[in-house]
Amino acid sequence: MSEEKITAIVLAAGKGNRMNSSQKKQFMILGDRPLICHALQMFQESRVDDIILVTSAEDIDYCRTEIVEKYGYDKVSEIVSGGKERFDSVYNGLRETEGAKYVLIHDGARPFVDDDMTDRLLRAMEEYASATVAMPAKDTIKISDADGCSVSTPDRRYVWQIQTPQCFDRDMLAHAYAKMYESDHAGITDDTMVAERFGGEKTKLVYGSYENIKVTTPEDLKLAEILLVSRKKINAKK
Ligand code: CTP
Ligand code: MG
Repeated sequence: MSEEKITAIVLAAGKGNRMNSSQKKQFMILGDRPLICHALQMFQESRVDDIILVTSAEDIDYCRTEIVEKYGYDKVSEIVSGGKERFDSVYNGLRETEGAKYVLIHDGARPFVDDDMTDRLLRAMEEYASATVAMPAKDTIKISDADGCSVSTPDRRYVWQIQTPQCFDRDMLAHAYAKMYESDHAGITDDTMVAERFGGEKTKLVYGSYENIKVTTPEDLKLAEILLVSRKKINAKK
């Protein structure tokens, strides 16, 4: 497996509307550096062969000089512009991954991805063409109707919260994406949906971590600061 190329696509082309800040959330400071650096650092030190960074057209120069060159992420082989929806950004990244056997697609807004997660995903690839990190839902989940009334309660044993990274056989996902654009694709929120609906593949769920949060609203940034400090303390004790 080690000879098969693994490419990570790191997404940072969103607008961060829910963060309600003048600066885009992926470039806000977490610890001592922009949020996006944390995921890039992890992939830089991991077994992935190269990284495609996807950002808005107007941020490409900033990412090149102030992120990739400044922090020395030499595994970043391309910085490409994203699209209107998350899946458009993924597709723009995916087009740059020809020759890779596996792609790992990651939200740049999740700073606490770690090596164990990518190892679990790549192990799942021995049997599946689609896998994601996920965690069992802690709360009871309800399905509601349009009036906001509960209509059903799924059995919590089978309810998972989906995170990233998500890992795919690259050619399968590229074909599934091409098919998706030829069909109705409203409501696609992650890439496992593309693999399932348009690639006909089952997705294997492997454990992520409850700390693998997506920084979405201002509270998440505060929580991320706390998690970062506690991790530093743990590492210092080792
Ligand atoms: N993303 C992207 N291209 C888009 C939309 C999202 O690359 N057109 C990326 C974001 O930068 C983020 C990840 O996808 O790293 C997850 O999306 P989300 O947390 O929803 O970020 P935003 O879309 O930026 O935030 P919001 O939905 O609050 O506007
Ligand atoms: Mg969004």
